[in-house]
Amino acid sequence: MSIDYFDPREEPVLSASFLKEDEGEHSLRPRLLSEYIGQTKVKENLSVFIEAARMRGEALDHVLLHGPPGLGKTTLAGIIANEMQVNLRITSGPTIERAGDLAALLTNLQEGDILFLDEIHRLNRSVEEILYSAMEDYAIDIIIGKGPAANSIRLDLPHFTLIGATTRAGQLSAPLRDRFGITLRLELYTVEELAEIITRSAGILETPIEPEGVWEIASRSRGTPRIANRMFRRVRDFAQVRADGLITKDVADRALTALQVDHKGLDELDRRMLRSIIEQYNGGPVGLETLAATVNEEAVTLEDVYEPYLLQQGFLTRTPRGRCAAPKAYEHLGIPFMGQMSLESIE
Ligand SMILES: Nc1ncnc2c1ncn2[C@@H]1O[C@H](COP(=O)(O)OP(=O)(O)OP(=O)(O)O)[C@@H](O)[C@H]1O
Ligand SMILES: [Mg+2]
Repeated sequence: MSIDYFDPREEPVLSASFLKEDEGEHSLRPRLLSEYIGQTKVKENLSVFIEAARMRGEALDHVLLHGPPGLGKTTLAGIIANEMQVNLRITSGPTIERAGDLAALLTNLQEGDILFLDEIHRLNRSVEEILYSAMEDYAIDIIIGKGPAANSIRLDLPHFTLIGATTRAGQLSAPLRDRFGITLRLELYTVEELAEIITRSAGILETPIEPEGVWEIASRSRGTPRIANRMFRRVRDFAQVRADGLITKDVADRALTALQVDHKGLDELDRRMLRSIIEQYNGGPVGLETLAATVNEEAVTLEDVYEPYLLQQGFLTRTPRGRCAAPKAYEHLGIPFMGQMSLESIE
């Protein structure tokens, strides 16, 4: 059997970021809190806050969602709007260039509306400052005119809810962070939860799949629903073209292996990263920037997209002096582990 159908990979299947092919994920998006799988703590908290706000007939407090990409932040914002029965406006940090852009967005909101601001850590300073008074006092001060004739006027805003999403909460300035009444951290999903998500997607897309097939995909999706759904769709294509349409464990395994995703969900870059820590830096510690240069990838990508899963699975450890490969990484790559020794003690 040839596997050229999936090769070469143009876009990494394991990329947790939104790819063009994910547009079809729209139909897979849960619309209600009860359809949102996993993240039990987050859901419990949110349902209380939502109910309380609705009982009081008030806008929900501002919400900050943080966690690695693809875990369901945008989905959650949609669900909150749905449950609150208000409009949702979606924008993102890098697309708001000037303070005036944000002012225009804010003044167009209606009472209770939700403004979803993705990648909020990438707002520029002058735009961010507008948010302070908007969030706190539901008002903004705008400057009209230039030079000595300039005038500042205060515009009142409707009571709205800001939902900020970020992969790096640590990069938010304290004044911005402090203005969120609710901060929720999304965690990587368990294999069981991912299995539930894949089963749900298979139901929506009416795809026959065996429980072992579900499990195979779930355990290789690195804790991320976006990746689980994407892999599921690729495996489904594979099953249609190369098998009789039914997704079995074997079909899933063959499809994912063709995509160069190994049994632990690691892709080529994960393995290169671990191998380079072991072979070039003697198991570590090695600084993130150095490692990034070695594997030819951006440090932020390694930190936000690759590391969370490697850390969670115990392939990687973080120390104050840098990253280290854990014994599990040696084992996975088939390299004998002789204890973490410094180069000098070997010589
Ligand atoms: N808890 C969940 N239950 C079921 N499906 C989910 C869940 N979370 C996410 N998904 C699925 O995963 C996809 C990706 O989620 P989403 O776009 O909300 O991620 P995100 O955290 O906003 O990512 P990014 O940080 O890249 O913006 C959604 O289309 C949805 O189908
Ligand atoms: Mg998103």
